Amino acid sequence: MRTLTGITPSGTAHIGNYFGAMRPAIEAQANGDCFYFIADYHSMTSVTDPAERRANTRGIAIDWLASGLDPKQSVFWLQSDVPEVCELTWLIGSVTPMGLLERAHSFKDKTAKGISPNFGLFAYPVLMAADILLYDTNAVPVGRDQKQHVEMTRDIAIKFNQTYGETFVIPESVIRDEVAVGEEKALRKKVMSIVMDSRTPAEPKPDAERNLCIQLLKLVAPADVAADFEGRLRAGGLGYGDLKKALFEHYWGYFAPARARRAELVSNPGYVDQVLREGAERARAVASVVMKRARKAAGLE
Ligand code: TRP
Repeated sequence: MRTLTGITPSGTAHIGNYFGAMRPAIEAQANGDCFYFIADYHSMTSVTDPAERRANTRGIAIDWLASGLDPKQSVFWLQSDVPEVCELTWLIGSVTPMGLLERAHSFKDKTAKGISPNFGLFAYPVLMAADILLYDTNAVPVGRDQKQHVEMTRDIAIKFNQTYGETFVIPESVIRDEVAVGEEKALRKKVMSIVMDSRTPAEPKPDAERNLCIQLLKLVAPADVAADFEGRLRAGGLGYGDLKKALFEHYWGYFAPARARRAELVSNPGYVDQVLREGAERARAVASVVMKRARKAAGLE
């Protein structure tokens, strides 16, 4: 079973990305056949500064490698290093009804916000469908906001198969559960500032499990340590200052190995280039087979 997902190179990864997307993707590597790519073509609908795109792309590549993406186990590449995806976009775009694209939530949201739409924004779901179909993908882990795009991919693949004969594998979305989405919001909020209520340290806190610091501690500290803090907060006697200090220490420790790997990768750009180059070769080996199948089906050869 092949799992594939695209990572948008927008800014630097935050703790919500880590627990919502990176950690599950890295854990999935153990089950094999994972395809992960950085969607730099997709970033063209929002970023128009080349230096910014380059920096974001490299930063995201380093974040994923530092967090444990193993380029030997998984195929990890830069979308634009396999430009066949643009050829496939045209082939499948030619069977994609305008009406389907007009119903895309992300397109409607952006135009409603006053962003003047260009062809790239309108065709965004077709490029995403090409990403998925080009690699005979079975499962696509995405956030809830991308579910419709995967459904559109299925519609497009079915339409192509009906028109030209069985060509594409029909993929399924795997939605990262609500907990992860909630977590991400809470985590982002945490990064901005942790605001506690005004109860005194001595007061018992029967709602201790809803405390943001406790929720975060559960992600970065051993289970028994987090449970101990939760118990002490519930019972009363644990001050928020001490809780925050403990959270910071565990947070710092949790990401220490990734920070060290990150520093190493930053000082070794040649290695990152090589990883992406080799990933692109492996991705291309799969893509060229599927592309040939699609070209033949459509009578292009
Ligand atoms: N559009 C996705 C996002 O913004 C990124 C993406 C591009 C993607 N191509 C993909 C995700 C293919 C899954 C499969 O998150």
